[in-house]
Amino acid sequence: MSYQDIYQGWKSDPEQFWMQAAQEIDWFRPPSKALFDDKAPVYEWFSDALVNTCWNAVDRHVQAGRGDQLAIIHDSPITRSTKGLTYSELRDRVASLAGALRAKGIEKGDRVIIYMPMIPEAVEAMLACARLGAVHSVVFGGFAANELAVRIDDCQPKAIIAASCGLEPGRVVHYKPLLDKAIDLAGHKPDFCVIFQREQEVCSLIPGRDFAWHSFQYGVEPAECVPVEGNHPAYILYTSGTTGQPKGVVRHTAGQLVALNWTMKNIYGIDAGDVFWAASDVGWVVGHSYICYGPLIAGATTLVFEGKPVGTPDAGTFWRVIQNHKVKSFFTAPTAIRAVKREDPDGELIGDYNLRSLQAVFLAGERADPDTIQWLEDKLNLPVIDHWWQTETGWAIAASPFGIEQMPIKKGSPSVPMPGYDVQVLDEGGNPVPAGTLGAIVIKLPLPPGTLPTLWNAEARFRKSYLDHFPGFYETGDAGYIDDDGYLYIMARTDDVINVAGHRLSTGAMEEVLSSHPAVAECAVIGVADKLKGQMPLGFLCLKKGVETSHDTVVKEVVGMVRDRIGPVAAFKSALVVDRLPKTRSGKILRATMARIADGEDYKMPATIDDPVILEEITGALKGIGLGK
Ligand code: COA
Ligand code: AMP
Repeated sequence: MSYQDIYQGWKSDPEQFWMQAAQEIDWFRPPSKALFDDKAPVYEWFSDALVNTCWNAVDRHVQAGRGDQLAIIHDSPITRSTKGLTYSELRDRVASLAGALRAKGIEKGDRVIIYMPMIPEAVEAMLACARLGAVHSVVFGGFAANELAVRIDDCQPKAIIAASCGLEPGRVVHYKPLLDKAIDLAGHKPDFCVIFQREQEVCSLIPGRDFAWHSFQYGVEPAECVPVEGNHPAYILYTSGTTGQPKGVVRHTAGQLVALNWTMKNIYGIDAGDVFWAASDVGWVVGHSYICYGPLIAGATTLVFEGKPVGTPDAGTFWRVIQNHKVKSFFTAPTAIRAVKREDPDGELIGDYNLRSLQAVFLAGERADPDTIQWLEDKLNLPVIDHWWQTETGWAIAASPFGIEQMPIKKGSPSVPMPGYDVQVLDEGGNPVPAGTLGAIVIKLPLPPGTLPTLWNAEARFRKSYLDHFPGFYETGDAGYIDDDGYLYIMARTDDVINVAGHRLSTGAMEEVLSSHPAVAECAVIGVADKLKGQMPLGFLCLKKGVETSHDTVVKEVVGMVRDRIGPVAAFKSALVVDRLPKTRSGKILRATMARIADGEDYKMPATIDDPVILEEITGALKGIGLGK
């Protein structure tokens, strides 16, 4: 069947489409129907089923005779080690960890925060929670203690599972002091912590609160898989919004199982027994869907990679891993390919490896610029497929479904909507725009299975952020257009979210940190175009009258504060001190106009601007650091 047949098949009978996809999942009690719309516009899927994620991702493959197949390969160029875990080993390890968590009181519905680097134990911890029906919330290791504390207070975990350290090239990330500081800062205190001691740095444990990963499992009864309702939350994953308070995206159990399983075969062309590699981090949605759950639900082998595209040890690392582990489909961010291309422009290192196993490369996380796609296509002579999605959706909204058919690629477009997504482009007034016209990209409700049903403990915020602006639609926060052939083009965000090296960051959160500096009267943060990372944050500071500290000192201090409070991942390295910020007459800072000036793009003088002279001052300040025209 062609993509068109499948997409139209879904559109004409979504209920039948998803019930059929649901047959691939092992149910304790099958769903009586797919869509539950009684609380519309808040929708749920497969709510009356009983199911367990860990059973579907692990145990059922052992039962089906795949026990000796590798489930996880850990490849760490940083520690120069590689190891594999079979499905049987994974089941035993997860059952034991889940048993130990249960013995300490973790039950279905309890929240557990996971703060771990790229080691198989991170995936085991996620699966152990899933086994018990506990709701995990994984926090990315590049966030600082304060960000961890915000998440502890929001989801109120009974336990935190962490590692003693993470490893960045040339630097040990001391997780334990960050964890201790976060627990100090948070109002909510977990009952206990489980610490995986890595040999690179063993940390001290707080008696009574902290338990060592291995000894805490000694002598416990392994846990069986606990059946949960289809609409039971599988996890909460925090993502950046407009303010400093992150949004807790909720994922329901059954929808995730059905949707991810469908994508493995139909989008990525992966079957049981194949090797799939998403070079991301378990702290991001890509890591949840395509390092942990998707490949394992499909019975494939997943790769947990602890390294960088370059420097660990060189720009050939990706190709070495693909060769050594016979990776069939590879998923990474365009920024990673740009980093490789910068170090190895002629792709000489690619020639050192045998990439016969590889069938396609998938890119997501940020806009894939046509040059990067072209370079990779030329060097690999394979399909390079851009696809577009968000933490909120959990899987691709638009892609070229490689497992169904290889559609013509238009560079600069993530291709066409996937079944489940009726994507439209609207103007500010909510009217559809003609093909080729820029507007807000929205998705007609209901969103498909596996997407967010709500925000954790914040349904009003969920409605306000995503549903209220365009009634009947989900607002993606992206702007773009659809061409005459139905291909989507994602051009920009409509909010204050920026994308730095494939990482989604909130300029609002950075502004909150800057404005807490005692010398700062007012501030703004924008994203400016960056050749490697896509965007980089840039701060603007207006200082209070009479401040005697030098401008350089204030800038240095705010850079340190952002690193300390949000984390190194914010990559906030520069700020400009200016006299005034450009605003509308109602006082709104003209961030988008400032960003256009910084990127050297043409801009229209906003009709509502308060004082146009300020834009000239900003243009001058940007010129001073080599930005703008
Ligand atoms: N724990 C602690 N610190 C981390 C971290 C982690 N898990 N991940 C990143 N950091 C730190 C880095 O050490 C760096 O700190 P520094 O300022 O002291 O150098 C900072 O956060 C920024 O890191 P990063 O964005 O990785 O930039 P980089 O300059 O080190 O590397 C790239 C540039 C392009 C190679 C890198 O950004 C990259 O691999 N990007 C791909 C990202 C990706 O796959 N995203 C997937 C989302 S789908
Ligand atoms: P995240 O929630 O971190 O996955 O970030 C989602 C956002 O990243 C989207 O809303 C887009 O702004 C951007 N994004 C992700 N993938 C793509 C893509 N393929 N093309 C353009 N933008 C993308």
